Amino acid sequence: MRVALRRAAHQIHDARPLVFQDPLAVQILGSELQQELLRTPDGYRRPFSAALRAWIVVRARLAEDTLQAGVRELEARQYLVLGAGLDTFACRNPYPALRVFEVDHPATQAWKLQMLEAADVAPLPSAGFVAVDFERDSLRERLLAAGFDERARTVTAWLGVVPYLTRSAFHATLRVLSGFAAGSRVVFDYSQPRSALPWVEQQMQDSLGARVAAAGEPFQLFFTPFELARELESFSLAVEEDLDAAALGERFLAGRRDALELKGRAGRICVATTRGRAGLAGDLDEGQSVAGETRIAKVGDG
Ligand SMILES: C[S@@+](CC[C@H](N)C(=O)[O-])C[C@H]1O[C@@H](n2cnc3c(N)ncnc32)[C@H](O)[C@@H]1O
Repeated sequence: MRVALRRAAHQIHDARPLVFQDPLAVQILGSELQQELLRTPDGYRRPFSAALRAWIVVRARLAEDTLQAGVRELEARQYLVLGAGLDTFACRNPYPALRVFEVDHPATQAWKLQMLEAADVAPLPSAGFVAVDFERDSLRERLLAAGFDERARTVTAWLGVVPYLTRSAFHATLRVLSGFAAGSRVVFDYSQPRSALPWVEQQMQDSLGARVAAAGEPFQLFFTPFELARELESFSLAVEEDLDAAALGERFLAGRRDALELKGRAGRICVATTRGRAGLAGDLDEGQSVAGETRIAKVGDG
């Protein structure tokens, strides 16, 4: 809800051109929250609020830019939105040949479907909703049962989710992504560990961490860029881009006349590509070791 409120606030309170244009971002909130957004414009200009909003709209924009490039240049035919929250793409997909698979925790997804109905926003026929708890369920099984085609090139958005996962749930999802068609892409944001941050940012991470922990969803997974690249490599995923706040700001926020600004070292966004060993995920057991050598040996066994 908080992420969706920030996307909606961007549509209303920030300068044109918007960083991320989402014609349904306000509507999906329903009238009560819309009134709330209009009543409190000043809060959105405060630096902490503007920085979080900048982060949320920049990552959404990068995901949809990656999708656009994927559709046009790589003939991607599927968009997989992992941990979709109140993302509205499934209701505004402009690409005629693109199927959209929205995956979320069963509780979040049920709530979202209610929100959509109450706000009179209908998913398009190209959308499928797949309920998955990354900590318990087999993402691959659920996707295949919903008609997902592993042989079709796919762009995956996995925004605002990785820091909340256990390492084993993160690995289980990478294993699934590694089985997609070669050239498939995934966009996800992650956070650097406290020890890699300057003092001021440690305090900010502590404060945000305490807030999400109090809401029952603690941050628990952090990487340095080096650690992350090594993890991805062990799942045959290659880092295309791993962008920090400065690089993202330069790409998406340069010359703006509003409060949107990105600073600091903590948050980063990674775009990675599946190298293409189709079927790999299917040959591995869920609980198997993630070391590259072990994986290759197992595939060879098969
Ligand atoms: C901060 S929200 C981000 C939502 C959305 N991606 C966005 O950017 O608006 C985190 C999302 O991760 C999902 N999530 C967290 N843990 C999960 C789990 N174990 N299984 C499935 N989804 C999970 C939540 O249901 C929620 O939709």
